[in-house]
Amino acid sequence: MLVLITETPEEGSRIAGRLVAQAIKQTPALRLGLAAGNTPIGLYQNLVDLHRTTRLDFAHVRLFSLDEFIGLPSDSPNSYHRFFHQHLLDHVNFDPAHLHLLNGQAEQDIVSYCVSYERLIRNQGGIDLQILGIGQNGHLGFNEPGSSLNSRTRRSLLSASTKYNLARAFDSESVPEWAVTMGLGAIREAQTLLLLALGAHKAEIVAKALEGPLSAFIPASSIQLHPSVVLVLDRHAAGSLNNQDYYLQQSSQVMENNHWFLEPSFMQVAQTGLPAKP
Ligand code: GLP
Repeated sequence: MLVLITETPEEGSRIAGRLVAQAIKQTPALRLGLAAGNTPIGLYQNLVDLHRTTRLDFAHVRLFSLDEFIGLPSDSPNSYHRFFHQHLLDHVNFDPAHLHLLNGQAEQDIVSYCVSYERLIRNQGGIDLQILGIGQNGHLGFNEPGSSLNSRTRRSLLSASTKYNLARAFDSESVPEWAVTMGLGAIREAQTLLLLALGAHKAEIVAKALEGPLSAFIPASSIQLHPSVVLVLDRHAAGSLNNQDYYLQQSSQVMENNHWFLEPSFMQVAQTGLPAKP
């Protein structure tokens, strides 16, 4: 695992944005998995800025989503469908034919809908890069504590703590009971995972996910099984890690060699390790 620790949350969002931008430049038809939540908003803002200033091209990028609420109309201010449009899609040149957001109102039976969503991803060649956040209870997507580490895309009952955390953003609308989420096994099929966590409120769960035992009780710990993971943490979110010194050492290797953003790709580096200094 490649753990990059930044001084500020803004720098974390900037680094994560640059990593995604680099992947798009190297693979214009990148299959990119999007995540919602407060954390990646800055990342998407960075991508929008790069689109504006450097013409980062989304025309060929294939977009998928990680989860969605069940029962919210797609134009609800709280739907992830709306979230992705508001923070990214309305500001870049994506092709609607390449957009595959999970639908929380699918007419189809939910089980066959989830099977068809996974089949769609497989038929497109799988996800190259999956953006992830982490819930304060350790959820990934909406895989709540107790999710099988090999779970598949499915309907998921939201836990009380997740509903409590979401309620602040939901204003007048009540938080749905159910969501549809890619399962932990399905998420791990992505070639590279990019997990972003920012802020002191994420410190404890980040440490459990990264350094605690692999456990269905901490769904995000399942990333420990993946061969190519990059974590971008600000120093507050990294604050409870035992192995922090080593991660800081890794981070300075990466930040000092700025050229690393170009060659080889960070997705390769996540898998094969840091290149030696020139
Ligand atoms: C949400 C989403 C997750 C997200 C997480 C953290 O409920 N389903 O995909 O990573 O919770 O959200 P935030 O970034 O707002 O803390």
